Amino acid sequence: MIEIKGTTRLCGLIGNPVEHSVSPVIHNNLAEIKNINMVYTTFKVESYNLADAVKGAYGLDILGMNVTVPHKQQVMDSLVDIDPLAKAIGAVNTLVRVDGGYKGYNTDIIGLGREMEDEGVFIKDNSVIIIGAGGASRAIAFLCADKGADKVYLLNRTIEKAQNIANAVNTYFGKECIIPMNIGDYNSIPDVEGGYVAIQTTSVGLYPNVDDTAIEDDAFYEKISVGVDIIYNPAVTMFMKKLKSQGKPAYNGLKMLLYQGIAAFELWNEVTVSKEEADSVYELMKKELGISE
Ligand code: ATR
Repeated sequence: MIEIKGTTRLCGLIGNPVEHSVSPVIHNNLAEIKNINMVYTTFKVESYNLADAVKGAYGLDILGMNVTVPHKQQVMDSLVDIDPLAKAIGAVNTLVRVDGGYKGYNTDIIGLGREMEDEGVFIKDNSVIIIGAGGASRAIAFLCADKGADKVYLLNRTIEKAQNIANAVNTYFGKECIIPMNIGDYNSIPDVEGGYVAIQTTSVGLYPNVDDTAIEDDAFYEKISVGVDIIYNPAVTMFMKKLKSQGKPAYNGLKMLLYQGIAAFELWNEVTVSKEEADSVYELMKKELGISE
C-alpha cells in the first residue's frame, strides 16, 4: 500500500453511482507498481453539483479526475480545454490539470485502441462492422475513422441513431467512411477478403441475459474474422461464443476498461505503463471482479 503523507497526490472518479467502480483497483495498483505517491478514490456527485465539484477539485489541487455516467457530456461545460477528438465524440472521461482548470480527454477510446493493438486487431485499411449506435458506438466510430478504417458498417435497430453517428463522423473526417444500416439488413453487407473486424457495443448479452445476442444468425458471423465485445460481464458473451465456435478470436471489454485507466494514469503522471505492468494490473482486476477467464 502507498504510504499517505504530506506529498501524496489525489485523483478520483466523479460519477453517480460510483460505489462499484473498478477504477480504484486499477489506479492504486498502478501507483504502487510505478512507485508514484498517488491515491485514487471515488466521489459521488449529483448533476447539479458537477460544476462546483470540478471547480473545487481544481481549488484543492487535485491532480486529475475520471468522469463516468451520467456526467461525461455535461462536464465539458466546466473545462478550460478539450482534446479535439473528445470534443468531436462529445464525451470526456478524463480531466487533466492544466493552467486555470482541467483539460478533458476521452481515454475510453484510447483504451479500446490500445486493447485492439494489444490483441493484434488492426483497424487501418480494414473493413469494420459496429453493432449498436449508443454512446459507446459513437466513440468507437470516431476511433475507427481516426485509425484509418476502410469502410465501417454501423448496424442499429433504430436506424436514425446510426445515421446521426455516420453524419457526425463523416463530416468530421471529410470522408464517407461510416455506412449506417438497419440491423436487420446485415445480409446485404458485402463479403470482404480477410473478413471484418466486428465490435459489439449494444447492451444485448449483458449479465443476466447471457444467452442473448443482437444478431442470432450464424451466417452473419462467417463474415467476421475477429470480434471485440465491449461487455465484460459475462467474460465470454454469446457474441464471442458464436465467433469462437467458428474458430475465430473474440475479446471482451475488460482490457478496454483497463487501458482507459492506464491512459488516464499516464496523462496525469507523465509516465508510460509497459505491457507487463498492464498485464499484472489486469490479473488484479479479474480477481476483484471474480472473473477467472
Ligand atoms: P451505451 O452508451 O453503452 O452505448 P446506449 O446509449 O443505451 O448505451 O445504447 C445501447 C445500444 O444497444 C443501442 O444501440 C440500442 O439500440 P437502439 O438504438 O435501437 O435502442 C442497442 N440495443 C439495446 N437493446 C437492444 C436489443 N434488444 N436489440 C438490438 N439492439 C439493442
